[in-house]
Order: sequence, then C-alpha cells, then structure tokens
Amino acid sequence: MRKPFVAGNWKMNTDSNSSVELAERIASESADVAGRDVTVAVCPPFIYLQAVAKALSASSVGVGAQDIYYESKGAFTGEISASMLKDVGCTYCLCGHSERRHIIGETDDLVNKKVAAGIGGGLLPILCVGELRAEREASQTNEVVTRHLKKGLAGLSAEKVSVVTIAYEPVWAIGTGLTATPQQAQEVHDFIRKLLAEMYDGQLAEEIRILYGGSVKPDNAADLMGQRDIDGLLVGGASLKADDFLAIIQVAV
Ligand code: 13P
Repeated sequence: MRKPFVAGNWKMNTDSNSSVELAERIASESADVAGRDVTVAVCPPFIYLQAVAKALSASSVGVGAQDIYYESKGAFTGEISASMLKDVGCTYCLCGHSERRHIIGETDDLVNKKVAAGIGGGLLPILCVGELRAEREASQTNEVVTRHLKKGLAGLSAEKVSVVTIAYEPVWAIGTGLTATPQQAQEVHDFIRKLLAEMYDGQLAEEIRILYGGSVKPDNAADLMGQRDIDGLLVGGASLKADDFLAIIQVAV
C-alpha cells in the first residue's frame, strides 16, 4: 500500500565528477526496481543538482535538494527557491534536516515556511523530525517530535500535507554509528502516524510515508524495514557508497 522509499542524503560530499558517477551507477544498477517497486531519490549538494538530474533523466531515480528557501525570488543572497529547484529537475526537497536545525540554527517557523514553499512550488518535501540524545534521555522524544510535526506542518491542509514525506531521524543516531533499534524506531513511527491521524485524518496517516534515518547500513536495513510503520530509509554516509546504497535499495523492495 505504501511504496517503500529510499533516499540518499549526500550532505556536503562529492564533486562534479563523483556526483555524476555515483548517480549513474545507482540508476543503472537499480533500474529493475526503482520507480516500480521502490521510490529512489538522491539529494546531492545544490551545486551538483543540475548535472545529477541530467545524468538521471532517463531513469526512475528522483532528485531532491537538501534544503530550499521559502521566498520565490529576489534579494536573498545565497538562497535557492522552489522554482529554481524545479527548473534544474528536482522532485523532492529535504526540510528541517537536523544538521540545519542544530548546526545552522533553523527554527520550526523557518522549517514550516520551507515546507509550505516546497509544496506551493510543486516539490515533494521530506520533513525531518527527531530528538537530541539529551532529549531522549529526558524522555522528551514524543514531545520533540510533536513540536517538529505540529510546527513544521502548521497552516497546511490535509490535501497539502498528503504530498509530504516524514523522516524520523534521531539526532543521536546520525553519523554516529548508533542506530535506533528497530523497536525504538517503530515506537516513534507509530507515534508519528497516530499523531498525523489526530492532526488530519486516518486516511492521510495510513498513506503518508515515514522514513527512518540515522546510521542506516546494508546490515541493519532489513530489520528496520521489517517494522510495520517504517516505510523507507533516509541514508546519509552509506548513500555515498554505490554498493551500500544499492544493497539498501534491494532490501527495501
Ligand atoms: P547517516 O546515515 O550518515 O547517519 O546520516 C543520516 C542522515 O542524516 C540522513 O539525512
């Protein structure tokens, strides 16, 4: 019912050659399943989006941006709008990734404007939510996830939210080698789905895809994907290695 979704977040990695090479390998070696059995996307740095989108244009592997700005154009030095992302072939945009929240300092209000701008501009936002280690230890996980979801989606109708994907990324599991256990992840995914049912309706909650991210590797992907409410994976480090990312895609099918 919910098609699995595997997305690679390349973060601030690759260069003009390696980004295209990585994209080409992913496209050619996932061609039998991508699009049909599993949604696949890669999120390269802004500057390589156009080249990667071109390399993937004949494939079913989608392209996403790692961020977006909410204004459509004008004097916003350094920023990139939804229409620019569409123009170079993007389908998705990450919004509120924890590195942007905690390193760059993005607020829930800013993330909300970005989600709205992405939807308004015809993109499919992937809204990232998740708690810090100290917040988990203080049993605040549900509270943090509730705030990220309610504020991140504030003012958006069910119809608009239906194009959004949620990514649960516990911050303590990102790039640390610590993965949430499948049970820990499932617990939060189940909480998110129930919250979405309360905020919108049961149908939206059943249909929306909720990805897990945080130290996903080929050897833990199957256990994570085996959980009822884990619909896909948002992969950081392992998405930079074609063999690992391809193995994760195969597990998700
Ligand atoms: P890692 O897979 O490197 O932990 O990164 C996860 C992530 O932040 C994906 O957006």
